[in-house]
Amino acid sequence: MKKVALVTGAAAGIGAAIARRLAREGIAIGVLDILIDDARKIADEIVADGGQAIALQASIADRTQVNVAVQQLRDAFGPVNILVNNAGITGFIPFEQITDEQWDRMMEINLKGTFIVTQVCLQDMKDGEWGRIVNISSSSAQTGAINMAHYSASKGGMVALTRTLAQELGGYGITCNTIPPRFVMGTVMSEKTFAETSIGGGVTRQAMAQSGPVRREGRPEDIASAAAWLCQDDASYVTGQVIGVNGGRFIG
Ligand SMILES: NC(=O)c1ccc[n+]([C@@H]2O[C@H](COP(=O)([O-])OP(=O)(O)OC[C@H]3O[C@@H](n4cnc5c(N)ncnc54)[C@H](O)[C@@H]3O)[C@@H](O)[C@H]2O)c1
Repeated sequence: MKKVALVTGAAAGIGAAIARRLAREGIAIGVLDILIDDARKIADEIVADGGQAIALQASIADRTQVNVAVQQLRDAFGPVNILVNNAGITGFIPFEQITDEQWDRMMEINLKGTFIVTQVCLQDMKDGEWGRIVNISSSSAQTGAINMAHYSASKGGMVALTRTLAQELGGYGITCNTIPPRFVMGTVMSEKTFAETSIGGGVTRQAMAQSGPVRREGRPEDIASAAAWLCQDDASYVTGQVIGVNGGRFIG
């Protein structure tokens, strides 16, 4: 069976690392992002390295755009049987100041976007009686995070969705797991967070890196290697799990 993966938010950071890693394992990749120029760079890089990839433009929160993008991926490589729901946005604001619009946008992209992309890809996996879904959530769903109520609630929804899909889809040979990253540097999101000291809450990068048993910053490749393992055939008995890839920080 040819393996075809859709990786959302794959133009940067963790998503790009996952796309590169899966491509190195011989999987054809749909590099989906709202930023098509950046997605093309990642797809071109994968192809230059001998892999198979196409860039796809869509907002994960727009079902019409997602339908078109997934069809482009099918036309290029065949049915989609691996989905990595990685695209997401963040935000930092005290709970009482969050507006309805800010709350809705966070849920619309992080949670509803995951719902839409998963629904659009699912029939391919059911038809093939094989599938892998990996949801990139956040440790904030496990611990909570100050000034991130809307973000952590959206990621908590992804964890609950993961566990539910694992139960609904296990009989079809489809697994669904989630990786909740914490402090993965070298991404647009994390570099911006730590560049803005008010957001970092005065906690330095160095202090953050030293705060876990594995005394270093997380890297996008750390998340990618765990995601790649979850997508393998021999991970078929692992589903509904929250796989901590966080340097050993003792969280939920
Ligand atoms: N970096 C961390 O420390 C960290 C920690 C916890 C969770 N996460 C999660 O990991 C995932 C990746 O984070 P990252 O740090 O690589 O972020 P990033 O900002 O570097 O990359 C996210 C990508 O998603 C894309 N994107 C945003 N909204 C989109 C939409 N509506 N449709 C399609 N694409 C969209 C962006 O254009 C970007 O390319 C996110 O879901 C994030 O919440 C990251």
